[in-house]
Amino acid sequence: MAIKIAVLKERQPHEARVAATPDTVKKLIGFGFEVSIEKGAGSGASLTDQGFKAAGATIAGEAKAALSGAGMVLKVQSPLRGGEGAIDELALFDKGAILISILNPFGDREGIAALAAAGVEAYAMELMPRITRAQSMDVLSSQSNLAGYKAVLDAAAEYGRVFPMMMTAAGTVAPARVFVMGAGVAGLQAIATARRLGAIVSATDVRPVAKEQVESLGASFVMVESDETQEAETAGGYAKEMSDEYKRRQAELIAAHITKQDIVITTALIPGRPAPVLISDKMIASMKPGSVIVDLAVEQGGNVSASRAGEVVEAGLVKIIGHLNVPARLAADTSALYARNLLNFVELLADRENPGRLAIDYQDEIVAGTLATRGGAVVHPSLKEK
Ligand code: NAI
Repeated sequence: MAIKIAVLKERQPHEARVAATPDTVKKLIGFGFEVSIEKGAGSGASLTDQGFKAAGATIAGEAKAALSGAGMVLKVQSPLRGGEGAIDELALFDKGAILISILNPFGDREGIAALAAAGVEAYAMELMPRITRAQSMDVLSSQSNLAGYKAVLDAAAEYGRVFPMMMTAAGTVAPARVFVMGAGVAGLQAIATARRLGAIVSATDVRPVAKEQVESLGASFVMVESDETQEAETAGGYAKEMSDEYKRRQAELIAAHITKQDIVITTALIPGRPAPVLISDKMIASMKPGSVIVDLAVEQGGNVSASRAGEVVEAGLVKIIGHLNVPARLAADTSALYARNLLNFVELLADRENPGRLAIDYQDEIVAGTLATRGGAVVHPSLKEK
């Protein structure tokens, strides 16, 4: 019998994305699976039930009907547990069901434990190894990319001046200076977007390889170089936490640079750890009146001392934007990319010989790298250790 795949409506606050689109549903059905979409699941991403139906899915009136008999569940965020929302989604899962989702495994240990206790085989997509073969399944990249773009537009919307230089009969308007901190996926897209809008852009990172990428986008690179930065990048391409001495030197450099900036976009993250604080209250006080800061790391603790999750804070005449779930602010496109990432992952799990069935190779680096819970236990090595 073909495995039934359920796609739920996301119920978490500030979530508008959905884990499938009519395009990916068509392909899942092409692999031989059945797909059940909860009514209204796509509405936040401008996708209609009719569209999903036309792609071959059945529309379930409620989460319970979608989940009943489902061997696999595709989600954007962890299922709600008892007391967390209107319904206890996790209680409706079949024992042994596979869950593919973003699970915030380091920040939500309780959630991971609950998935294990419920007997769910849960794959945390943010644990995707950064290898070439996994690029098409890398949800952090697909979502951060668009978040970097949106951060610049959010800054532009709050900024009382223009980005490009404008020469008009009434006088010349100076271009904005944009400084991007953290030149990973989000940061590089922020640089490209700010450049397209006509700003003068600079950027920083702790990984020296970022220099060439930043410069190839037409921005200038500023960083504190030391022996330490030669080892700042992990084998997985992520940054490590830097020493106190490095942080002190970095803060000096930023303090001098930031006084000349109009817009600062911060994107610096360290996997499994709180985000590094890069902008202090003193630095904010030294900025030009009317400057705008966007803290994309606000949900991981924040790169900016004064940022507040879900708020636009004013510190003197400087605005600090801390929007929650920035990818969900572009839900139609981020859902389409996320759904594609999941489809590629499901294809890896699917049995090529028997349509509608799975043949999971638990030795596969991608499977082992993302599998968080199975058989009633937390199985991922980085989640088991204290
Ligand atoms: P991220 O979201 O974890 O961090 C964002 C950026 O902040 C990174 O560039 C990091 O170096 C920087 N950062 C961390 N601490 C900092 C500090 N104290 N000061 C300044 N900057 C700091 O990283 P992201 O964007 O997810 O990926 C980083 C890199 O991984 C990419 O640039 C790319 O080279 C690589 N990558 C490889 C992939 C693959 O091979 N499949 C896929 C995606 C990314």
